[in-house]
Amino acid sequence: MKSVMMQAVRCQKTDFVPIWLMRQAGRYMPEYRRVRERCSFLDLCKTPELSAEVMLTAVDRLGVDAAILFSDILLLLEPMGLELEFTPDGGPKIKNPVKSPRDVNRLRELKDIEPLQFVMDAVRYTREGLASNIPLIGFTGAPFTLASYAIEGNSGRNFQQVKAFMYLYPQEWDKLMKGLAVSAARYLNGQIHAGVQIVQIFDSWVGCVSVEDYRQYVFPYTKMLIDLIVAGTPIIHFAPGNPMLLPAASEAGGNVISADWRMTIDKAWDMIGRNKAIQGNLDPAVLLTDRATIRRHAQRILRQAECLPGFIFNLGHGIMPQTPVENAIALVDIVHELGQMRSS
Ligand code: CP3
Repeated sequence: MKSVMMQAVRCQKTDFVPIWLMRQAGRYMPEYRRVRERCSFLDLCKTPELSAEVMLTAVDRLGVDAAILFSDILLLLEPMGLELEFTPDGGPKIKNPVKSPRDVNRLRELKDIEPLQFVMDAVRYTREGLASNIPLIGFTGAPFTLASYAIEGNSGRNFQQVKAFMYLYPQEWDKLMKGLAVSAARYLNGQIHAGVQIVQIFDSWVGCVSVEDYRQYVFPYTKMLIDLIVAGTPIIHFAPGNPMLLPAASEAGGNVISADWRMTIDKAWDMIGRNKAIQGNLDPAVLLTDRATIRRHAQRILRQAECLPGFIFNLGHGIMPQTPVENAIALVDIVHELGQMRSS
C-alpha cells in the first residue's frame, strides 16, 4: 500500500503533507496516564505488549501518518553499564555517571542486542498492529546527547560538565563517543532487523554547542553512527536548539533533518539543502492554545514550506504533558485539510 510518509522521506511528491508528532504517546493522553497508574515508565518500556499498546492507541486517536516506537533513548545506556532511574517527577537520572576520565573504561560497548530484546519485541508487536501504510520509526539518541546524560547524570541545565569533559579529556571523549556511536548503530540495526522502516536520531541537547565545537567534538561521531546504519533505511536527524548548526548537522547525515521553531521552515530548508527532506517545525507551545490559533500557525508553516515534496509536518520538539488531547487531534486534522492545497 502507498505510504505518504515513506514517499515524503524520499522527497517524492505526495497527495498531502504527512504529519506525526514527537512524543505522540505520553502523559498528555488520558489513555497513557491510565496505563501509567498501573506501572512505572521503565516497566512500561520493558513490557513490549504495553509499549505497543500505548503507541497504537496514540496513532489511532490522532490519525497520524507515522508511528514511533514507544521506548526511551536512555535504555541503551543500561547494558553499557550505567544505572538508570526515572524520578517520581518523570525526569531521568543516572546513578553512576561518568565523572572522571577513568570512568570511560567501565563503560561497555554494546556488542550484542540481547539485553535490549524487549525493544525488538516492542518493534514486532507495534508493527503487527499498524496498517501497512503507516511506517514505524525506530530511534536512538545521538552520541552527544547520550554522552550528556552519561556525564551529567541528568538533563543538566547548561551542560557545563559535558563540555568541560570534552575540552579537558579529548582522548577519553573520543573513546566515549566512538563507543556510543558503535553501540547506537548496533541498537538501530537491531530495530531495523526487527521491523522498523525509518530511524530517527535524537540529538536533543546538541543546541548547546557552537558550530566550531560541533565540527570538532560531535560531527565525526554522529557521522560514524549514520554511516554504520543498514544502507537504504531512511534516517531522520533531529538536531534542535541552535539553527546555526543545521548545515553541519545535515552534512553529518540523514535523509530528513528535523528542525525546531527557532527559524522559519523555508530558511531552515535552505540551510540544510533542498536535496534533503525536512521535518518540523511547530512550537509545541502552540498546542496549549485554541483551534483558531493552531490553524493560523499550521497554515503559516504550510505556506512557508510550500507543501513541497519532502516536507513532513511535526513539532519542533515533543508534545508537552499539559497539552489538551483535542488540540493535538485538531492539528492533525488541520494539516491534513490544508496540506492538500499544493502550490507546485
Ligand atoms: O515520541 C514518542 O511518543 C515515543 C517515545 C519516546 C519517549 N522518549 C517516551 C517518554 C521517545 C522517542 C523518547 C526520546 C527521548 N527520551 C529523548 C529525545 C527526544 C526529546 O524529548 O528531546 C530524550 C531527551 C529522552 C530522555 C527522557 N525521557 C526525558 C528527558 C524524560 C523526562 C522528561 C519528559 O519529557 O517526560 C523522559 C521520560 C519519558 N520518555 C516519558 C515518555 C512518554 C515520560 C515518562 C512518564 O510517563 O512519566
